[in-house]
Amino acid sequence: MTIGHDSKIIELRNVTKIYKKNGKKITGLNNVTFSVKRGMVFGLLGRNGAGKTTAIKLLLGLLHPNKGELFVLGRPPSDVKAKQKVGYLPETSYLDREFTAKETLLFYGRFFKIDKAVLLKRIDELLSMFGILGYKDTPISAFSKGMAQKVAIIQALLHSPELLILDEPTSGLDPISQREIRDFVRNEKDKGKTILLSTHFLDEAEGLCDHLGILHNGRLLRYGAKDKLLQIRSTYMLRTSEQCPADIIKKYQGTKNTAGEIEIRIGLNEKKEIFAQLKEHKVEIIEFYRERERVSDFFSRVLLGADDE
Ligand SMILES: Nc1ncnc2c1ncn2[C@@H]1O[C@H](COP(=O)(O)OP(=O)(O)OP(=O)(O)O)[C@@H](O)[C@H]1O
Ligand SMILES: [Mg+2]
Repeated sequence: MTIGHDSKIIELRNVTKIYKKNGKKITGLNNVTFSVKRGMVFGLLGRNGAGKTTAIKLLLGLLHPNKGELFVLGRPPSDVKAKQKVGYLPETSYLDREFTAKETLLFYGRFFKIDKAVLLKRIDELLSMFGILGYKDTPISAFSKGMAQKVAIIQALLHSPELLILDEPTSGLDPISQREIRDFVRNEKDKGKTILLSTHFLDEAEGLCDHLGILHNGRLLRYGAKDKLLQIRSTYMLRTSEQCPADIIKKYQGTKNTAGEIEIRIGLNEKKEIFAQLKEHKVEIIEFYRERERVSDFFSRVLLGADDE
């Protein structure tokens, strides 16, 4: 089967997963349907226990659904040809702490039958990309959490997968490590890679994802393009140069950002008036846009109304 440019890289059709624990049934996923097309960065959001990891493990063929069907690159998740094209970062890292970074990556590289010379080169490239080449021969036990997470991500990338599945890639990391990993995801997105990531950091979803899904008690409450899901507000943001006169700043309650520019929030009916004033004073307008709901507000709005649905 050939996969076209806009084809579905991931597809879930009415998927239900019920766990059984001590004779009790626990819902993991409840009749979930969604798809992810090539080149999308899809953010799976939801509170603890919402079903994010369950969906991911089903896509990796690590779990099997009670009902419904799943497809990865047009194949069932258990198909070896599908598995070969997926890179996976688990929620909890399973790295053997006695091994060095290089030993760990060589070990995983062998799973994918990568030629040893090619593999050694790729390991060095990826370690260097994440700034940890100097720690190649250091045991994982001596790594910080952020460094170990980078090794786990490199492990998921070794075989140049078409689809990357990252389960909470920045959880528990310091802000700098979080930023490095987000920069890496953005870079992969720019290269056109398809990425599914779960996260509790809603600003991360805001910055990285173009599509979102919100899971709650195993049900998919919302799903779609971020631009379509987030409500358009009735306010505008205006960013001007620092030359903006003090009386205008005062009148519209403008604030100075870290670059010294002036940011002003205005209503629809104030647009004409302020543009005329700025023109009169020859103030440069750097940016002007209609405000949208933040992903964090969208998340709260959907979850607050969740029990009525
Ligand atoms: N192996 C298991 N046995 C029994 N129940 C499970 C198992 N794994 C998950 N569950 C249950 O399934 C539901 C969904 O869990 P899941 O781990 O998919 O949530 P999650 O959205 O990934 O949460 P988190 O944000 O905490 O990682 C929860 O109620 C959880 O307790
Ligand atoms: Mg999880």
